[in-house]
Amino acid sequence: MAKTINVGMVGYGFMARAHSHAWASAAHFFDTGYRPALKAVAARNRDNAGQFAETWGYERAEGDWRALVEAPDIDVIDICVPNDRHAEIAIAAAEAGKMVACEKPLARTEAEAAPMVEAVEKAGVANMVWYNYRRVPAVTLIKQLVDAGRLGKIFHYRAKFLQDWTISPDVPQGGAATWRLDVDAAGSGVTGDLIAHCLDTAIWINGGISSLTAMTETFITERTHAETGKVEPVGIDDAAAVLTRFANGSLGTFESTRYARGHKALYTLEINGEKGSLAWDLHDLNRLEWFDHAVEGPLRGWSSVLVTDGEHPYVGKWWVPGLIIGYEHSFIHQVADFLESLGSGTPVAPSFRDALETTRVCDAIIASGRSGEWVSL
Ligand SMILES: NC(=O)c1ccc[n+]([C@@H]2O[C@H](COP(=O)([O-])OP(=O)(O)OC[C@H]3O[C@@H](n4cnc5c(N)ncnc54)[C@H](O)[C@@H]3O)[C@@H](O)[C@H]2O)c1
Repeated sequence: MAKTINVGMVGYGFMARAHSHAWASAAHFFDTGYRPALKAVAARNRDNAGQFAETWGYERAEGDWRALVEAPDIDVIDICVPNDRHAEIAIAAAEAGKMVACEKPLARTEAEAAPMVEAVEKAGVANMVWYNYRRVPAVTLIKQLVDAGRLGKIFHYRAKFLQDWTISPDVPQGGAATWRLDVDAAGSGVTGDLIAHCLDTAIWINGGISSLTAMTETFITERTHAETGKVEPVGIDDAAAVLTRFANGSLGTFESTRYARGHKALYTLEINGEKGSLAWDLHDLNRLEWFDHAVEGPLRGWSSVLVTDGEHPYVGKWWVPGLIIGYEHSFIHQVADFLESLGSGTPVAPSFRDALETTRVCDAIIASGRSGEWVSL
């Protein structure tokens, strides 16, 4: 009999939908000995939370996240609200002995994130941060190939995350749909929102970053605030271009913007090593591009691997070879690994402590963007 894990969801937006879908689906495909139950959802607007509960099958809705933290029937608190809300909820949840799954970035700054790490570690509760792209099978396969030494010595790690949704000066800052443009709610712009994803994958695959320099830009410096109705200065970075040195001697380049006309959510990465290169693109997420220098003669060249076979990470739990999966599966895989970790006792990654490192690098990007100097980490 699988053990039930009762989920308390905070928020009902984009990520609350992605996570609810994942909590509801994971046990159908992954046999971990645990079965999540959608127990309660909390939001400031109790009616909207009620509607969300109805749609997704949560047993009840609350008008305050504290009700979830205090409820004896909740096992895990899942934090799916803007970045400025993460710390208070996570710390209260840990102190109440709840497991905590927190959306990324862990918090707005390292200083805000550090007490969160302390709280979950002191309480000894299971914790994870939703850097979901690690669990796209092709990305997990990259990690396995690099760990197996298939690229040899790594020279370059290159990642981009491009969007175009804030080009109009009429997009407000703050409020329900546009909190990402308000530095008080988000902490930073593309750095914490998008480069953070690229950094999590990079550090996981290629190891720690030892120093960096960054160029950041705010193209539209004043926007109307949706909550006050006043035109206010914009405090976020609209774009960032980052050069890094990794501890293993390789060089990294990271670029992100919300001003790349035509791009909606293009995350790409490429790694170049002595023995080969690997490349991946979110828009074709089941595919891995691979160049193997060991192949000799006229067939040496880039090959394209469809990562849908049973022997590929996670995919054996899905359909039959050749059938593709999507974005939502990365969240389901994260839930499955979380549940697995409860049985095995091996903590799931990225933990709060792992994500603290990513936030530390994000802080360094913002600092370097302001000073124009290299920052040692
Ligand atoms: N892993 C990923 O790929 C990914 C993708 C998108 C967002 N995120 C992260 O998920 C979190 C939520 O983002 P989203 O896209 O779901 O946002 P969203 O705007 O779609 O939803 C935010 C939710 O938080 C609620 N909320 C807003 N302010 C609140 C407050 N002060 N107190 C309580 N609730 C409040 C809103 O009502 C809504 O339910 C953010 O930390 C974001 O960085 C991660």
